[in-house]
Amino acid sequence: MQNSYQVNGDYETNDIETLSKFVEECIRGAIPTKYIANNVYLISHPDLKGDGSQGNDKNPIWGQTRLVLFPMKTESIVYKIAISGIGIRANKSEYMITQKFSNIPEAINLIAKIIDKTSNSVIISAKRLKTLPKEEWTKEYGKEVIAMKEKLRKIQNKHKLPIDMTKDIHRFNVGYDDDIMKVIDYGLTKRKF
Ligand SMILES: Nc1ncnc2c1ncn2[C@@H]1O[C@H](COP(=O)(O)OP(=O)(O)O)[C@@H](O)[C@H]1O
Ligand SMILES: [Mg+2]
Repeated sequence: MQNSYQVNGDYETNDIETLSKFVEECIRGAIPTKYIANNVYLISHPDLKGDGSQGNDKNPIWGQTRLVLFPMKTESIVYKIAISGIGIRANKSEYMITQKFSNIPEAINLIAKIIDKTSNSVIISAKRLKTLPKEEWTKEYGKEVIAMKEKLRKIQNKHKLPIDMTKDIHRFNVGYDDDIMKVIDYGLTKRKF
């Protein structure tokens, strides 16, 4: 049974739009997320999936709803690949929030910007930030996360934004852009647009 979820290892693509169509079919076909991730690593060219040092089929980098690739071709970005319907919704939210924030400098500076998306929103590219490994988490780091949450809440109120992105901000969902802490996962934001 297990093998029927696996694609032919001879096939490879370095085209993000093609990969997004493949993943869309997997989600539609209710393929378990673990196998979607395996297959993505199997068929993606290193241009897309990286050299394996930052995520591979044995140690995928993912959250609850998306698999994240660190492409070799463009080191300044990551690809966020939905592995479920909720993941697609999260991709759409991040894309829309980046657009909404783009004319509010103090807000856009607090998020890892979404650069592009595939036509089906199954894959988005985001600015790559530096995340802190769990071993390096300190008390100060925890405080910084709480402070950034407060900052975001104030900006949302000040600009009367029809969203709340503070619910899902925690230590796994932030990263550093140079020395500035920003949110890397704002997919579960409640939004009214
Ligand atoms: N912009 C980014 N730069 C660097 N790493 C990222 C970025 N976005 C996500 N990641 C990594 O991928 C993991 C999962 O991504 P995330 O956006 O949290 O997806 P999910 O919605 O599934 O939780 C993060 O915890 C982080 O390690
Ligand atoms: Mg997350």
